[in-house]
Amino acid sequence: MNLNNKIAIVTGASSGIGAEFSKMLIENGTTVYGLARSTDKLTRIHEELGKLFIPVTLDITKASAVEKWVDETFDDDHQPDILVNNAGLGYFADVDDLSIEKWQTMMDVNLNGVFYITRLIVPMMKEKESVCHIVNIASVAGLMGNPQISGYNATKFGLRGFSEALFKELRFDGIKVSCFFPGSIATNFFNSIESVETHPNMMQASDVANTLKFVLETPDNFLINEMTMRPLNPKPPTKEA
Ligand SMILES: NC(=O)c1ccc[n+]([C@@H]2O[C@H](COP(=O)([O-])OP(=O)(O)OC[C@H]3O[C@@H](n4cnc5c(N)ncnc54)[C@H](OP(=O)(O)O)[C@@H]3O)[C@@H](O)[C@H]2O)c1
Repeated sequence: MNLNNKIAIVTGASSGIGAEFSKMLIENGTTVYGLARSTDKLTRIHEELGKLFIPVTLDITKASAVEKWVDETFDDDHQPDILVNNAGLGYFADVDDLSIEKWQTMMDVNLNGVFYITRLIVPMMKEKESVCHIVNIASVAGLMGNPQISGYNATKFGLRGFSEALFKELRFDGIKVSCFFPGSIATNFFNSIESVETHPNMMQASDVANTLKFVLETPDNFLINEMTMRPLNPKPPTKEA
């Protein structure tokens, strides 16, 4: 896909890799609808990236609000070419310490919200003559389970299954579906997780954005359906005494 003059939706565009994805897409001539709940952060990104970034204050867990926004934004002459399902969060705890509320929030954002928006965008992509692309941001936690992240694991394993099914379901409609499995990236993701601090050996959001560019720009009949990425050395740099 040539990214110039395309239309993208990026969920979770107010920080982290979603903000970097938006920047990369805009630098390549794509109009980006950047979705998140924080209007103030989206406004700052709009000021930085300019008019190709369209800030959209929207909680993807509210199915009817998502439907209203899609109805009001798109029509036969204005339809998205790219959907990046990136919004997500994680709560880390032993299973007997993980609250029902936190479990449900992870399910709502990481899995249900992805479904709410994807089901509305797919029919428009099916109508398009040109190839479209859905990219789901899972995690290495979608490939292997680990202690204290059972709930997050469950959502990201679920997202992997959703992505694989969609890839097989939509390939003959000219819609690519890719699922990313990143290891640790230095973003705000870890702000709510006491046991992990960001450090310079985590991957950088801009490098993940460059990987998205590569995957989106592949020739029409060439699909990278899964992509795992990790820091080579994931350990924090040792502090000099
Ligand atoms: N950082 C990592 O190490 C890492 C590794 C693997 C995978 N991932 C995945 O990468 C994705 C992005 O995470 P990040 O690292 O960039 O973290 P981040 O900086 O915390 O960004 C998360 C984004 O999701 C948005 N969001 C959360 N709940 C939302 C909701 N209900 N509706 C709409 N937007 C919502 C947040 O915006 P608002 O708060 O403004 O709504 C924010 O823009 C997530 O799916 C995460 O699971 C991250």
